[in-house]
Amino acid sequence: MLQEYRLGMREFRRISALVYERTRINLHEGKLPLVQNRLTKRLRMLGLEDFRSYLSYLDHDESELEAMVNAITTNYTCFFREQDHFDFLREVVMPTIIENDQRKVRFWSAGCSTGEEPYSLGMELLERIPDIRSRDVLILATDISTRALSAAVQGVYPPEPVFKCQPSYRKRYFSEDERSGMFSVSSEVKRLVRFRYLNLFDPWPMRGPFDLIMCRNVMIYFEHAPKMELVRRFRSILRPGGYLFVGHSESLTGEDHGLRYVKPAIYRKPQSEEV
Ligand SMILES: C[S@@+](CC[C@H](N)C(=O)[O-])C[C@H]1O[C@@H](n2cnc3c(N)ncnc32)[C@H](O)[C@@H]1O
Repeated sequence: MLQEYRLGMREFRRISALVYERTRINLHEGKLPLVQNRLTKRLRMLGLEDFRSYLSYLDHDESELEAMVNAITTNYTCFFREQDHFDFLREVVMPTIIENDQRKVRFWSAGCSTGEEPYSLGMELLERIPDIRSRDVLILATDISTRALSAAVQGVYPPEPVFKCQPSYRKRYFSEDERSGMFSVSSEVKRLVRFRYLNLFDPWPMRGPFDLIMCRNVMIYFEHAPKMELVRRFRSILRPGGYLFVGHSESLTGEDHGLRYVKPAIYRKPQSEEV
């Protein structure tokens, strides 16, 4: 029988402090069962007795912190999640890029998880910008979870999530491996995306400016102050007129961040500002 591990409040507090320090993810006491559940696999793998031993293991092995963050982060995502954003891209963002004959286009998927979000952006760009190869177009895709990122780089998905894409996209941008039944993202889409490890609270190596930043369903895990710090940093790296898309449950209305509300979960940097 598999050993059960019980996470006490004392150990939970130390773990949540470590997670907060590293990621700014706020694990309040209600998250104790979730943390116990997600870390149980680590304890089993490491052959440890209990959570106390896990904490001393963490003290002695730096790399375990990365494994812990991988286990704790919630990586749920899907292709074309929150359809309204993709409608806005099609109806407003892409036509403007084409009308202005913009040669350099930069998007950032901040908190890209296993890649479905930046690949959806890539497919949309390929659909809307016919001469994309003659332009300088890139999607930066970053995350703190090394496990999620390595799945993202592979770009191989089971059928269920891929079947959520429109049939024409599925045919054009995926190939099916008949033996495994898995679908691989086409190299045409992959070429547009650069995956990188980035903790959003560390210094950013890139300078922008970005035309669009998607940071969706990431800031829900942060407290108000770090969240607002992040939104101000996003604003500073957007080009004037650039957009920030947040998750539909993450309103920024009534906050002092210098972005203009466009519609639910869409904000824009005013045109007149310098980056
Ligand atoms: C729920 S997923 C959202 C994925 C995608 N944006 C979407 O909406 O479908 C949240 C992602 O944020 C990442 N994340 C959490 N804290 C982070 C941090 N401090 N820096 C970078 N990424 C972080 C997690 O690893 C996770 O992959």
